[in-house]
Amino acid sequence: MPATVVVGTQWGDEGKGKFTDLVARDMDMVVRYQGGHNAGHTLVVDGEKFALQLVPSGVLYEHTTPVIGNGVVVDPRVLLAEIDTLTSKGVDCSRLKVSGNAHLIMPYHQELDALHERHLGAAKLGTTKRGIGPTYADKAMRTGIRVQDLLDPKIFRKKLDVALDHHNKVLTKVFNRLPVDVDSVASQYLDECAPRMSGYIADTVSLIHERLEAGSEVLFEGAQATFLDLDHGTYPFVTSSNPVAGGACVGSGVGPRHISRVIGIAKAYVTRVGSGPFPTELSDEIGDYLVDVGHEYGVNTGRRRRTGWLDLVMLRQAARLNSLTEIALTKLDILDGLDSIKVCVAYEADGERYEYVPYHQSVFHKVKPIYEELPGWKTDISGITDHTELPSAAADYIEFLEDRIGVPIRLVGVGPGRGQFLDRAA
Ligand code: GDP
Ligand code: IMO
Ligand code: MG
Repeated sequence: MPATVVVGTQWGDEGKGKFTDLVARDMDMVVRYQGGHNAGHTLVVDGEKFALQLVPSGVLYEHTTPVIGNGVVVDPRVLLAEIDTLTSKGVDCSRLKVSGNAHLIMPYHQELDALHERHLGAAKLGTTKRGIGPTYADKAMRTGIRVQDLLDPKIFRKKLDVALDHHNKVLTKVFNRLPVDVDSVASQYLDECAPRMSGYIADTVSLIHERLEAGSEVLFEGAQATFLDLDHGTYPFVTSSNPVAGGACVGSGVGPRHISRVIGIAKAYVTRVGSGPFPTELSDEIGDYLVDVGHEYGVNTGRRRRTGWLDLVMLRQAARLNSLTEIALTKLDILDGLDSIKVCVAYEADGERYEYVPYHQSVFHKVKPIYEELPGWKTDISGITDHTELPSAAADYIEFLEDRIGVPIRLVGVGPGRGQFLDRAA
């Protein structure tokens, strides 16, 4: 059976968690394929809020198998704490499978992330300080430690010795910090985490393929987003993995032939947390309105998100980079109170018009958005359940976006709750 990918089309926090949960209703398996606990995916079910970091957003259904794929970086302490929190809320996590090939976030990765940010000073990236970058760097350097190493204490110790031989020199000689104690890390990971982790560790490549071959539906849940992608995002202000839909293949072990549906999650306005360019950013009262009404604060870090008007140049680019087959437009209800709504339809720089994101950063950094202004609807749409009941200005807004992006908008979010969505194909 074909597989589906859910991917963020902006700079993250578009509502991937909510829409993954929604689509997972019809899925047998939900797979995270990259990133780590830098993600914060919110689900609101029957008024109860779940903020997931590592556990896939399909976990709430008993019929799905949640899988953490090989492309994810896993801090086992965080994963086990998340499992405990979910269990205390009555969610059964026993079906969870974690790839043995996923890399482990170690305590020194987290410390190095924070030290590197401090070292950069004003040029800092604004990372989540979860150790994501240093863990992927170790993976590329081939000095990383993998989840499967937890099952073999001898190999784990050997790899830890090699890694710390290097990192302790960096910590003490470059950053003037205390060295990390090998024994205490080994004890934390091998004695405290490994016994509990062992029940979840699996050959996830085989599991996913067995499901696909049996005709089951598999959903890949992206974290972060297209413009935080290491290759295609606003480098260096990006994360250290590949959130784009193609990342689902590498990060889980399936070929592109399996993927037939790619749902791009797009917020009806844009937010960004951390540093980096943002052409449609607002620093006026409308920006504050979007923060306040949209509750735009980080799920895990609590940081205030930067806000701006919807940017169709980014969405056209995201449609290409991910082969989007449809868009889910989220948080449309947050625009309810606005008299009129601006949409960036193209960029302008040095007298040239850009319909797609200019590849050169020097051009991108100076682009000016070209806006079209559409009338607002000034109506509370959060209780609407049928798309035909939308005020005409809201329906026109959606059609305008569809037309200018060239990708159908099927699902539309009108509130945080599981049931607060409209299906325009219904
Ligand atoms: P993710 O990282 O992409 O999963 O998104 P986050 O969970 O970080 O942020 C999205 C926020 O918007 C969460 O608080 C969601 O509960 C909320 N949300 C998602 N969809 C909608 C929607 O359509 N309307 C409203 N008002 N809130 C939504
Ligand atoms: P979800 O999955 C929004 C941002 C950070 C920073 C940059 C690099 O909830 O959409 P990192 O810690 O990954 O090295 O930080 O990426 N970032 C996110 N922004 N949502 C996320 O995840 C993010 N994950 C990382 O703020 O700018
Ligand atoms: Mg988030």
